[in-house]
Amino acid sequence: MRESTALLGNTSSSSSSSSPCRQQSSNKRRAWILAGGLTFLSLVSLAWWTTLAATGGQDTRLNSPAVGRFIHITDLHVDPNYRIGASSYSQCHRRPTSPTAEIDEKTGKYGRPFSKCDSPVALINATSEYLRKEWRGRVDFVAWTGDSGRHDGDAELPRALDEIIEQNNIAAGALRHAFGGTCAVIPNVGNNDVSPHNELPGPGHKRARKTFRLLAKAWQGLVPQDQLPAFHYGGYFAYPVSPRLTVLSVNTMYWYRANDKVGGCKAEDSPGLAQLAWMRWQIRMAREQGRDIIVIGHVAPNRENYRPSCYKAYARTVSQIVPPPGPHAPPIIHAQLFGHSNVDAWAFVGPDADWEVSERDQRLWWEKQVDDEEGRFGDLIRGAWTAEQQDDASERDWALMEDDGSALVTTSQVVPDDFVETLLREYERVVMQTPRHPRLGITTISPSVIPKLQPAFRVFHYLLSHPQKEKGHDSRWSHLAPGTLLDYDVYTADLHKRNKEEGGVKKFYEPLYRFSRVYGIGDLSVDSYVRWAKRLLTSKALRKRFRSLTFLDM
Ligand SMILES: *[C@@H]1O[C@H](CO)[C@@H](O)[C@H](O)[C@H]1NC(C)=O
Repeated sequence: MRESTALLGNTSSSSSSSSPCRQQSSNKRRAWILAGGLTFLSLVSLAWWTTLAATGGQDTRLNSPAVGRFIHITDLHVDPNYRIGASSYSQCHRRPTSPTAEIDEKTGKYGRPFSKCDSPVALINATSEYLRKEWRGRVDFVAWTGDSGRHDGDAELPRALDEIIEQNNIAAGALRHAFGGTCAVIPNVGNNDVSPHNELPGPGHKRARKTFRLLAKAWQGLVPQDQLPAFHYGGYFAYPVSPRLTVLSVNTMYWYRANDKVGGCKAEDSPGLAQLAWMRWQIRMAREQGRDIIVIGHVAPNRENYRPSCYKAYARTVSQIVPPPGPHAPPIIHAQLFGHSNVDAWAFVGPDADWEVSERDQRLWWEKQVDDEEGRFGDLIRGAWTAEQQDDASERDWALMEDDGSALVTTSQVVPDDFVETLLREYERVVMQTPRHPRLGITTISPSVIPKLQPAFRVFHYLLSHPQKEKGHDSRWSHLAPGTLLDYDVYTADLHKRNKEEGGVKKFYEPLYRFSRVYGIGDLSVDSYVRWAKRLLTSKALRKRFRSLTFLDM
């Protein structure tokens, strides 16, 4: 852990930038330039650069004004019932019952690492203070991908919606304290932000309406005002974070297999297909406005998590397999960020979908329907997504309407051992057939704050614009579109240490690793992911590293 601080260089130390959203080039570089007259120093400098190049990391390259940053934080699972010293059998709610039993020392002030216990409020507060001190004013936006409610795993303390809303209140308050007023914090609906967990009826149903209304209240100020109609309708919304970039916060509950309150995406009036229509409408608008897109959601899209018709339709939508008509370039979807799985991982999206196309204009029947602004979905665009709906909307039992893939309930909170093996097999499959699938998408899963492993989050670095041809900045990114992700850092809090520290903790989270340092790859474009996959498939040592980093083990 101590070594890894050095690995990440000085990116987290200079927090006194004048711009709230940008970090200026470091003083260190200026000092080097001043001393440039001295030959021996130049030689030292040269050696330093050479060493960095050889290790695959160029620490100062990310200090360029051309580089922006955002945070991805997920799965806070706030639990005010957490008790220090309680047993993990009670979800850390009660001490062992035997009068002679000792308190459990692993259940410390800030949480119990590697357990099924949720996050104590002290962990949420410490995370909030840390983010405020270290990251406020240094990021362009924060993607926050859901599950702020605690798990419903304690039979003696059943969980109700009011409690979930209160836990969302606490989580939103923590992130507002950290970033409020400086940049967008973009929330998202998780499978534990609804009650009972995994169950969310379709738009119009009174339980859905109530859930969205209460969540919007708990997240007060975080969902843009003009997006409230769409959010109150379907639990999804768009956030323009800059003149060039829109973040789409999607409600993955309407595609998730475990939600048996809705069917798949086959029926014209299914909630899943309606959300895809909304996404495609947003993509069309982004195209007209010259914006690119980042998608954020809770449950990652794949064949196991989503109903088959929804997965295929999602994959086609993000891959934009059919170029939209018209003169503007299609928007680029630069990132698809998810949580839920508590690990640090990524996957290809798209190549396992079924790309059959219809004869004439290449669009499938449903694509024609959802893209038709005159039809049913046009009514949604002009109605529910842009103006508040009447409260007497129809209440339909979606589960009876359509059955596309069983509602396979994957309640296991433990990621199986063969998780990484499955990822690697997928990489292999995709790499072998890449030429046939030029439009790959990438989904990334960030590790969670809840200490299933240790609390963690990611900081992404992305290309804001092409750098000026100034000294020290070469054209290394000239082949990449603005918005492309360049690198990421994973930060973790070692709760074994934090729980033992008396008094104020200086730095709650510490850098664990930087992507470019570990894998020797200079950016996170799709081409680079393909290269990363190939590298993993050919190097046993790298695979071993990848496997341990997936579980936050250096
Ligand atoms: C967490 O922070 C809130 C808001 O500042 C405060 O009211 C609460 O007492 C804190 N709780 C803990 C356990 O630190």
